[in-house]
Amino acid sequence: MQTDLVAAIQTAAGLDALEACRVHALGKAGAVTTLLKTLGKMSPEERLVQGPRIQGLRETVATAIADRKGALERAALDARLASETIDMTLPADLPPAGTIHPVSQVMDELAEIFADLGFAVATGPEIEDDWHNFSALNIPETHPARAMQDTFYLDPNSTERTVIDEWAAAPPMVLRTHTSPVQIRTMVEVARRSSGAGEPIRIIAPGRVYRSDWDATHTPMFHQIEGLVIDKGITLGHLKWTLETFLRAFFERDDVVLRLRPSYFPFTEPSAEVDVGFSLEKGKRVIGGSDGWMEVLGSGMVHRKVIEACGLDPNEWQGFAFGCGIDRLAMLKYGIDDLRPVFESDVRWLKHYGFSA
Ligand code: PHE
Repeated sequence: MQTDLVAAIQTAAGLDALEACRVHALGKAGAVTTLLKTLGKMSPEERLVQGPRIQGLRETVATAIADRKGALERAALDARLASETIDMTLPADLPPAGTIHPVSQVMDELAEIFADLGFAVATGPEIEDDWHNFSALNIPETHPARAMQDTFYLDPNSTERTVIDEWAAAPPMVLRTHTSPVQIRTMVEVARRSSGAGEPIRIIAPGRVYRSDWDATHTPMFHQIEGLVIDKGITLGHLKWTLETFLRAFFERDDVVLRLRPSYFPFTEPSAEVDVGFSLEKGKRVIGGSDGWMEVLGSGMVHRKVIEACGLDPNEWQGFAFGCGIDRLAMLKYGIDDLRPVFESDVRWLKHYGFSA
């Protein structure tokens, strides 16, 4: 009996089989337990002989079970260790990291360049009222310039008023069609602060603007940067120097040349459209040199009517302003040829053109 029990224990294939062996031998109705129970009915002489034998059997079986259990557990652990090894020499999977959008990158670059020239950054609301976006900029209601920019008007009958404007606003409200209303807000604030006396102004205003347009070079939302300088004795010469200095710093080339073409904006007089010279390198247009010209921004001397509308004396204060498409600057500097993906948030595109943080 002992040999059979021990043999079964030693060949038990797993912990479950071993437990079955234990119940079979040492359980309540097990073979060894049954034998132990017979001791009570034996004569003292017989018990003296059988007692140690049966106890010995119980111990042998218990020891065999404990040994087998240890062996099985060690084998299970070895198998687990073998299957779960980690190769510490393999490269780790890094969590995906975001990139800086080229437009954000360009906005940062512009803010830095203009900070060196003493310009502060100003902002204004994207939902703008008609007065700041048009009227104060010398664009009266009947003026064709309003049709020039495909304006998004907010529904005046809408009961949804989810946007709380910190500035007093009067309908009709529009999505601002350019950053020029920030000129107005800045000058009005200066006039208010100085009780109409005025003070020098040097600001840039980067931000989102909206026009109803959609093709390879137009998106309904895009970015502009406005520049405004107000002081005493400001001339077109200051404007040209500022633009030249800014574009040379931005494109990181000293051979950037500008061409000012007479133009028309209701809020500047005289007005000039500014072209930047490019050269052809392997069929691609590269900013610098003067093989050809590309329009990059609108500018001019701030119209005296605009200065007046803001509550400043145009006989005392003059200045220049300019407005430039940021997305276009980004495309020119970083070789992006279609504007639409700039706003489509395709991770592959962002990985390709984005900047690491
Ligand atoms: N606001 C004009 C536009 O969006 C650009 C501009 C700004 C022109 C400032 C002159 C002065 O087209």
